Formats: sequence, C-alpha cells, structure tokens
Amino acid sequence: MSIQQDNRFQAIISHAKEYGFVFQSSEIYDGLSAVYDYGPYGSELKKNIRDYWWKSMTQMHDNIVGIDAAIFMHPTTWKASGHVDNFSDPMIDNKDSKKRYRVDHLIEAKADQLREKGAESEADALIAQMDQLLAAEDFAGLKQLMTDQKIVCSVSGTANWTDIRQFNLMFSTQLGSVAEDADTIYLRPETAQGIFVNFLNVQKTARMKIPFGIAQTGKAFRNEIVARQFIFRMREFEQMEMQFFVRPGTQMEWYNYWKQERLNWHKSLGIPAEKYRYHDHVKLAHYADAALDIEYEFPFGFKEVEGIHSRTDFDLKSHQEYSKKKQQYFDADVDPSTGKPYGNYIPYVVETSIGLDRMFLLVMSHAYDEETLTKEDGSTDSRVVMRIPAKIAPNKLAILPLMKKDGLPEIAKELLEECKPHFKCFYEEKDAIGKRYRRQDAIGTPFCVTIDHQTKEDGTVTIRHRDSMMQERVAMKEVRRIVTEAL
Ligand code: GAP
Repeated sequence: MSIQQDNRFQAIISHAKEYGFVFQSSEIYDGLSAVYDYGPYGSELKKNIRDYWWKSMTQMHDNIVGIDAAIFMHPTTWKASGHVDNFSDPMIDNKDSKKRYRVDHLIEAKADQLREKGAESEADALIAQMDQLLAAEDFAGLKQLMTDQKIVCSVSGTANWTDIRQFNLMFSTQLGSVAEDADTIYLRPETAQGIFVNFLNVQKTARMKIPFGIAQTGKAFRNEIVARQFIFRMREFEQMEMQFFVRPGTQMEWYNYWKQERLNWHKSLGIPAEKYRYHDHVKLAHYADAALDIEYEFPFGFKEVEGIHSRTDFDLKSHQEYSKKKQQYFDADVDPSTGKPYGNYIPYVVETSIGLDRMFLLVMSHAYDEETLTKEDGSTDSRVVMRIPAKIAPNKLAILPLMKKDGLPEIAKELLEECKPHFKCFYEEKDAIGKRYRRQDAIGTPFCVTIDHQTKEDGTVTIRHRDSMMQERVAMKEVRRIVTEAL
C-alpha cells in the first residue's frame, strides 16, 4: 500500500469512528481484536445495504425465496459439509516474534511490494506459483518459496520460521449446561449450510420448481488468525448468501448468469465498473467445480468482496449420506433427448456469497472524499463528503430551519412529519447553517432542505444537493417527490 493510499485508509477508519459508523468492540476494555460494533449511521447504512441485497434477490427474482436459519446447527452438519476436516488455512509462526501468519497473506504482501516497484509480471508469477502450491497442498514448496523470496516477519525482521501447518477456523462451544451432558457445537462459519439442510422444507412449502434459489443473511464466525484491515477480515461478520438449485449439467450456464448478475448489482449502486474485476480461482474449495471472486479496488488494493461458486451436488449429497434422508427433487419436465421426465436427482448448486461488512467497507471506500473548494474570493476551504449512493445513505433528507424562532421550526416539523413515513429524515436546528451542511456531508446525507423567512411568504425552501453542493429554490410540497425520485 502506498503512503497516500495508507493515509486515505487511515482517514476512512478515523472518519468511521468520529461520525458514528463503526466502533471497536468493547473499546472501554481496549477492544477485542477483529470484532467491531456499528454506530447510529453505520447500523443504518448496513441495514440499507442488506435490504438492497434482499430486495434484489427475493423481490426482483420471482424464483428466489428467503429463510432465516439459526446460527447453531447440529454438529454433524459441519462434518458433512467438510468444514471439520477441510476448513483450515496454512499458517506459519515466526520463532523470534512468536507471531502467527497466514502463508498466502505473507506471499501476497510480497507480491504487492513487487508491484509497487513496477515488477508486475514478477508479482503475477509469484501469485501463480503460490496458487499452484496451495492447490497441491505442497507446504514444503510454499516454505521454500518464502525462503527464495526472502520473506521476513514484520515484527522480528527475521526469517526464522516454523513449518507450515493447517489451522481450523471454526469456533466451538458447548451445548447444555452440565459439562457431562455437553455436546460440542460450532458457531457457523458460513450461512450456506442453513440453506442446504432446509432445501426440501423450503422446496415443498414454497412449492418451488427448479431452477430456484434460497437467500439468507446472517452472522458467521471464523477464528481468523491474521485479522487485519479494519472490517475487511473479522472474526464475527455477516454474510448475504444465495444458493441457486439447478438441474445437473446446467451449472456452468447459471454460474455465468450469476457472475454477470452480481456484478450488475454492484454497478447498480453507481460504483464505477473499473473499480471491479473478476478473479478466477485456481485452488478450488473442496465443494466447487468452478469459482471466482468479484474483487474491488480497496485503498489497499484489489481484494475479494464476493464469491460466485459452482458447488456441484457436494453439499446435498453429503447431507443425504450423513442424515440418511433423501435430498432429491422430482423434475417432471420432459427431457427432449429421451422424451421422458428428468425424474429424481440431487440438484446442483450455484452460490453467490457476499460479506455485508466487506460491502460496507467498499461503500465507505468509494464514498469517502476530501474535497478542496475554491470560494468566490479565490480563497480555499475543504470538506469531507461521503458520496454514499442515495438509495443506501443512512439519512436521505436533513431538514434544517435557518433559525430557531419566527415559526421556522414549526414549518420544518410539518415537512418532517410529511416525509418521515417515506424515508429516513434528520432534523436539526442548532449551529450555523454551513456547519450543519458539513455535518450532513460527513455522514453522506444526499439532500438538505433549509426553511427560511421566504418559506413563510411563498412556501418555497432551499434544497441543497450533497455532491454538487448546488442549491435550488423549490416549493416545499415538492420536496417529498424530489427525494423519492432520487431514491
Ligand atoms: N459460503 C461460501 C463462503 O462462505 P467465502 O469466500 O469463504 O465463501 C464469502 O466467503 C464472503 O464472505 C467473502 O467474499 C467475504 O466478503 C465474506 N467474508 C469471508 N470471511 C470474512 C471475514 N473474516 N470477515 C469479513 N468478511 C468475510
């Protein structure tokens, strides 16, 4: 990360705290590493992103329904899904600093350094070599690669490394209050399994026909060893996942469909296409026959925000084996090649999986802008403006009476009462108007309306647009329509 990018990232983190978006968890006790709380504006923004995703999945697609499964699941779920045996990362410890690292992160950091020096092709070759070694689970080869690349611990500065080992990322806890009765259960590391184990419940009760999808949002937990970069990698986070059940053999068609559809969703927020790219996986997870990441250019470089995975029939088949309950679907449609119904089969699955917190960080990274303003007399001023897409902004409209007297607050409150059932409004009468505008810019409110003495005479108000700072005089009765249209 260049100094400039690093400064920008640090500024976003500070801004997130100062303006009530994100706080360190349990801050008064010096915090809990890689766990965060969302403040008043953060929780609104997070909810708006979640709602936007939920609506696009369940309302805009006739063949997708939602569920809300529990975080705790029967422990056999995680045996069947492969998480007990396979959900681990290759880790290495530095013997001098006693610091533990994910091997792929160390090598990626080295590749970033090479890129900063302009050695793009060397960096690409390094990543390709790492992917191959990871895919082959060749830990000796990976360690050799680290030695060849002279990768050292950032704390001790030495290359005194242990061997590479796998480390399971699931948190476990005990179910039941008496130790002898207790059963080990896991905090789900992905929401997807809650969808798989409910596949037939949902298909039958909602009378779904293949192809169809099941969507879910909710908390997931991973004991990330190296949790860095603010809310990018957390130990408790939220996922928004959708499993799309398809006829075997059609999975690549749907994989390509969802690859495009999901990128379109990102673009529909007005975030520039050039900030995104696809990254095809070389090392496939134990359940996938194809997988890619949608990456976004964060201040610390292009990184995964969402995964599209063709999960085959791995999960349903495995749940069928472990539960001894059939996970089949009867497809009455006629197969043109045989002239007979497709009949019973275990569906294949294409998954879209996006981290809500990571999407939040994406929105913050996109929105944060330090703008220098040139005034009419030639002098300069500056403002921090959060250019959050209007449809997900925490507040949509700030209603600001110019003064706290002369009946202006009463008129402003009339407008507040009219608008607040339709979108989130903010009312404030304290401080100079310029100061109030700046505060709204800093939390990303797309519109401010000022009620002044002229409002009393002709029923007009000033509406100010956040991004352009353009102000126009409009009839107060038009405000609700203007804001609604912009959303
Ligand atoms: N069900 C598939 C699955 O969980 P994943 O690639 O491990 O796939 C999907 O995770 C998404 O969840 C990622 O693209 C990322 O946005 C988010 N995510 C994963 N681990 C995370 C973490 N530790 N902190 C924040 N978000 C995370």
